[in-house]
Amino acid sequence: MEPLRLAILGCGTVGSEVVRLLRQQSADLTARIGAPLEIVGIAVRRADRDRGGLPVDPGVFTTDALGLVKRDDVDIVVEAVGGIEPARTWLVTALRAGKSVVTANKALLAEDGASLHAAAAEGGADLYFEAAVAGAIPLVRPLRESLHGDRVTRVTGIVNGTTNYILSRMDATGAGFTEALDEATELGYAEPDPTADIEGFDAAAKAAILASLAFHTRVTAADVYREGITEVTATDVASAKEMGCTVKLLCVAERLADGDSAEGVAVRVHPAMMPRTHPLASVNGAFNAVFVEAEAAGQLMLYGAGAGGAPTASAVLGDIVAVARNRRTGSRAPGESSYAALRIRPMGETVTRYHMSLDVADRAGVLATVATIFAEHGVSIQTVRQEGRDDDALLVIVTHQATDAALRATIDTLAELDIVREVASVMRVEGE
Ligand code: NDP
Ligand code: HSE
Repeated sequence: MEPLRLAILGCGTVGSEVVRLLRQQSADLTARIGAPLEIVGIAVRRADRDRGGLPVDPGVFTTDALGLVKRDDVDIVVEAVGGIEPARTWLVTALRAGKSVVTANKALLAEDGASLHAAAAEGGADLYFEAAVAGAIPLVRPLRESLHGDRVTRVTGIVNGTTNYILSRMDATGAGFTEALDEATELGYAEPDPTADIEGFDAAAKAAILASLAFHTRVTAADVYREGITEVTATDVASAKEMGCTVKLLCVAERLADGDSAEGVAVRVHPAMMPRTHPLASVNGAFNAVFVEAEAAGQLMLYGAGAGGAPTASAVLGDIVAVARNRRTGSRAPGESSYAALRIRPMGETVTRYHMSLDVADRAGVLATVATIFAEHGVSIQTVRQEGRDDDALLVIVTHQATDAALRATIDTLAELDIVREVASVMRVEGE
């Protein structure tokens, strides 16, 4: 049996586990593929770094990733480096030359997946990326294949483990954001620079990939409305609890119909209060889950480890087996499906609900004035609760559904009123 030859780019958290599992499962993988897999090179930044007894010949390490990708004896390129460049150049070069690519690189796929798909089509090669969204959880294949006979209407997910850990701790202990982030850092969930996670960039990249697959439309990270969790306070979490909700950083990708029946897609990442009865509300700690709604299939939920070396390597290995089988049988993975080309709808057109807390003067007519502002913007109030605070009062208002633009305009107008001392907090309510 001719072996299938792998070039592995990156040997960090994910890459080293891929190498370890390739060795450990070698006999089973050979049986499943019908040919052995052989690692011909591993590209890294520091070739002389101690790799902790990784079961490979030290001679396979190189710092010349592009040279490795171009080698004639490479069949499959596995990329676990990350970032836009030079990863894009390596992968486009490989795909154009007809080499299959397996990548975990969500940032690249969300920024410029189109270039990778075009290169795959040009070279007649496979592009697999299961590990790019939510680590071990099978999501790309279900959306790209299993649900291709159906019409997906909405994808709602918790796709970032670090932020879910922080929000779960805030919910369980009453801790503030900074305290919970410190704990996440100590336990190794949060990176030394946690910006990509806590500001929602990581989740936005995953949301773009999921939306592209679900709606057959090119969606990039720049198309995703994004808010992180840095402004979420212990008071917000306590208010959510009072409503029977918990706070989650959600990614929501949904099909929206225009008045004239043309459709669009809206994709967003932001913290939201979610009823504790919703299946996603019970996803705690660093776990991820994605809730898919499709017209015929109904509601589906996929849950599991969204990060970490071994779980992510599991998804990479699944892809390696798939591309290896395809190479042996001469078949190919589905290419990019972007035929629907739905319009990307701005956040303002999204329909949602707001929970807000206003510090107001406690005197006659204040409530009526506030209610009038809501009415003028066409926003219906669902509940109002008032707590007295000396000469002031805290008004906690939950709205019915309205467009985000109308809700935002209501807040902006309220903030300008003399009787409103402060808009203390605003958070969307989702999942009812
Ligand atoms: P790490 O930082 O742990 O590893 C990166 C690897 O890439 C290292 O081996 C590094 O070499 C190598 N590298 C960096 N720059 C270059 C370069 N210019 N040329 C050659 N090699 C280079 O990253 P992760 O393993 O955590 O992540 C890899 C990818 O997987 C990213 O796209 C990430 O988004 C994705 N991913 C990660 C998950 C996780 O839980 N970690 C989960 C899902 C996806 P050296 O070892 O010498 O430093
Ligand atoms: N930083 C990411 C997370 C890793 O916390 O989920 C997986 O993409």
